[in-house]
Amino acid sequence: MSEGKGSPLQETTSKVADIQLGLQHDLDALKTQLSPRAVEDLKVKYLGRKGQVTALMETLKSLPKEEKPAAGKIINELRQKLEGELEIWRQKAEDHALEQSLTQHKLDISLPVQTTTGQGSLHPVTLMRRVLLAEFRRLGFTVYDGPEVDLDFYNFSALNFKDDHPARDMQDTFFIGERAKTILRTHTSNIQIHAMMVEQAPLRIVAPGRTYRCDSDLTHTPMFHQIEGFVVDEGIDMGDMKGVIDRFLKAVFGQDLATRLRPSFFPFVEPGAEFDLQCVACRGKGCRICKQTGWLELGGLGMIHPNVFEAVGYDSDRYTGFAFGFGIDRIAMLRYGLADLRQLFEGNQQFLGQFPIHP
Ligand code: PHE
Repeated sequence: MSEGKGSPLQETTSKVADIQLGLQHDLDALKTQLSPRAVEDLKVKYLGRKGQVTALMETLKSLPKEEKPAAGKIINELRQKLEGELEIWRQKAEDHALEQSLTQHKLDISLPVQTTTGQGSLHPVTLMRRVLLAEFRRLGFTVYDGPEVDLDFYNFSALNFKDDHPARDMQDTFFIGERAKTILRTHTSNIQIHAMMVEQAPLRIVAPGRTYRCDSDLTHTPMFHQIEGFVVDEGIDMGDMKGVIDRFLKAVFGQDLATRLRPSFFPFVEPGAEFDLQCVACRGKGCRICKQTGWLELGGLGMIHPNVFEAVGYDSDRYTGFAFGFGIDRIAMLRYGLADLRQLFEGNQQFLGQFPIHP
């Protein structure tokens, strides 16, 4: 430390030297514990309101007038030097902190993304639906969509279900709302009504979708999938219907399997039938899958009832048409050889991930 014996200017110069020495000492210490916070502390210590450089500046007041400019210049130079130096260290400290956090957290942004574990797959029902729809597109059908939550009118009344028809029974239908006018559709046939109420004939439509019935066992789930199809034009007859279904089934299951129609009843078709396919497992000999009959029941079909045309405002004297509907899940079950339909909807990724794109 200076003894303060020289001129006031010499005294200032020696104080400046002291401060520089002190800073040098502090910076040496800083190197072992470098942090932005420590640099900030030094800034306060030297340049802050009560800092050493600021205090030195205060001494100017008591200096003789003629020495003030020279002493002021020296102190200002010191201040600028320190500001520059501490700024460099602030930058160093920040780089160091970033470096440290990167190595500590071991974040390696160059690592490849894992793509092989937990990868999703298309659901077997989706795969099956795509195969079936592709076949209908080939036959000239357009794919249509309709609501799963619907009014009784579209699902039943307009499809010629009388008010006391057993299918409206609580055991089959999921009702929504107090007056039971809103329901979960029990079949995709509601799309016949939706489509015909907005589109003009001629129509050639297929419509896939979820359907709901209060039922659950090895071959039934409360939610299942259907595909509805219908063709409306002048002069459509049962030969067209049989031809389309036969071509479709042979294209999907193989040319050598026989198909057949059996008379049946659905309120919205007349005449109505069910269509069967020769058993894909035993080829008609009789086995466990076809319950020894040699045939698999696939779905229903028939000529669209004139009452349906009346309900949607089509001229039933001019137009005729046929409709068919069948379950996608059941076909997926046959094609993939599944024992229990319910497995499809239990969300087990290991089970769902094993199906090939082309069944
Ligand atoms: N909707 C009927 C069912 O779910 C199937 C069907 C559709 C029958 C079209 C005839 C015509 O059982």
